[in-house]
Amino acid sequence: MTSAPPRQTGQLPPGPKGSRFAQTGKFVRGPIEFLAKAHAEFGDIFKVTLVGMPPIVYVADPDLVRQVFATDRSVGNAGRTRQDFLQRMVGDNSILVLDGDEWLRQRKMIGSAFHTRYLQSYQEQIREIANESIDTWDTGVEFPLRPKMQIVALDVLLRVVFGIKDLERVAQLREMLPRLTASASSMETLAFVLSRSAWAGIEPIFRRIPGSAAAKFSKARADCDAVLYDEIRRRRAEPDNEQRKDIMSQLLRATDDDGTPMTDLELRDALMTLLEAGYETTAAAMAWVFERLVRQPEVYRKLVDECATGDEAYLEAVIKETMRTRPIVPVMPRALSGDLEIAGYRIPSGWWVAPSVPLLHSREESFASPDEFRPERFLGDDVPKSAFVPFGGGRRHCLGAQFAMIEMKAVIPEVVRRMTLRAAPGSAPEQQKTSHVLLTPSRGASVIAEPREVPAT
Ligand code: HEM
Repeated sequence: MTSAPPRQTGQLPPGPKGSRFAQTGKFVRGPIEFLAKAHAEFGDIFKVTLVGMPPIVYVADPDLVRQVFATDRSVGNAGRTRQDFLQRMVGDNSILVLDGDEWLRQRKMIGSAFHTRYLQSYQEQIREIANESIDTWDTGVEFPLRPKMQIVALDVLLRVVFGIKDLERVAQLREMLPRLTASASSMETLAFVLSRSAWAGIEPIFRRIPGSAAAKFSKARADCDAVLYDEIRRRRAEPDNEQRKDIMSQLLRATDDDGTPMTDLELRDALMTLLEAGYETTAAAMAWVFERLVRQPEVYRKLVDECATGDEAYLEAVIKETMRTRPIVPVMPRALSGDLEIAGYRIPSGWWVAPSVPLLHSREESFASPDEFRPERFLGDDVPKSAFVPFGGGRRHCLGAQFAMIEMKAVIPEVVRRMTLRAAPGSAPEQQKTSHVLLTPSRGASVIAEPREVPAT
């Protein structure tokens, strides 16, 4: 892609003409196309103005992306950019919405539960969960895989990450959580349409109107909280707490630098954070892997052969190439709490700066023939730093990235070992559809599955 035109320090980056309403209309209709057009016209750094948001400066060059992620140590605030749409669900103590010292304290405690020798040991249990799902699949007819992957990813969080053994409780949460997410999403749409400040004023009134989005959300959140708090209470009382390897048990044991453990409220917010950040994302990534595989017969064949040998290198390359060409999280904004000098521009405090992942991942300079699906590019060390960021970067990089990779590397081989997947005859590749803030396959990764002769494991 072209680089930005010459400019002088102090200027603001260029960007599409038109009012914020006109820009918002185009953005909502097709965010990927809108940003690609701006990129083609203005280069690797440009400004977009949308209704209800501060101006956003998008960057699409690896070096500029590195500079944006580096602001995590100074004026960049990832938490602030997520508060409006996540805080009511994940709570005030969530690392998703915090910044500064409060964020660091929570991140250290939750991070310690993920940075352990135990991660690899979760794979066997994840394979079991994948197989339970595969047992329920219809064969010989077209069906969407994303909902199946959502259940797998949710079960992995509840049973492996939280370590809940009571399957009835797992079933309860499995029913409640999608209800909570759906009602939170309707509330967010209302807040956007009515303007956030107007919505903040009337939300408490709406909560009292039975059947309203606010009332549904309140009820769903109360239901989930009741189960989560009950689980926390029981687990604190369990005698084998010290020996358990699941992540929730480690959170129960975690302390901050002063030796203070997490309160029940902090634990509830941490669990909700892991659900919010870890389940739809991983499910969408796995759905995309299958959507891509059924349209790349050579890659699919090779993957089946490689999985049979137990070697994970090609599998990992397929997952990465999928996340390069079909990123799940398209944008990773930072709200500026001070001016930022970047690429010769001075971006004012209060604005947002954001790497655009689809633009970054499709640069010819970083990835030769970027439109081609070629997992081999991830087999060497050729991918330039900051050119591939499916899990973000800087201090706010995805806390569950390693876990997500382990999960995908456990589930995908089980599927290709037991089933042969194909696209429905004549079906086109699926479009990238915005679902909440994620990019998901437009038809839910629709496939036809046929059982394979499974060699004994
Ligand atoms: C394929 C699956 C996943 C993708 C693509 C993904 C992607 C991301 C991205 C892009 C961010 C923001 C990074 C940034 O702003 O620089 C993020 C943050 C986060 N992710 Fe993930 N994620 C995935 C799975 C998971 C899982 C399984 C968990 C936990 C169980 C998790 C927990 C988190 C948390 C807690 C944060 C917030 C980190 C912070 O703000 O300090 N993610 N993830």
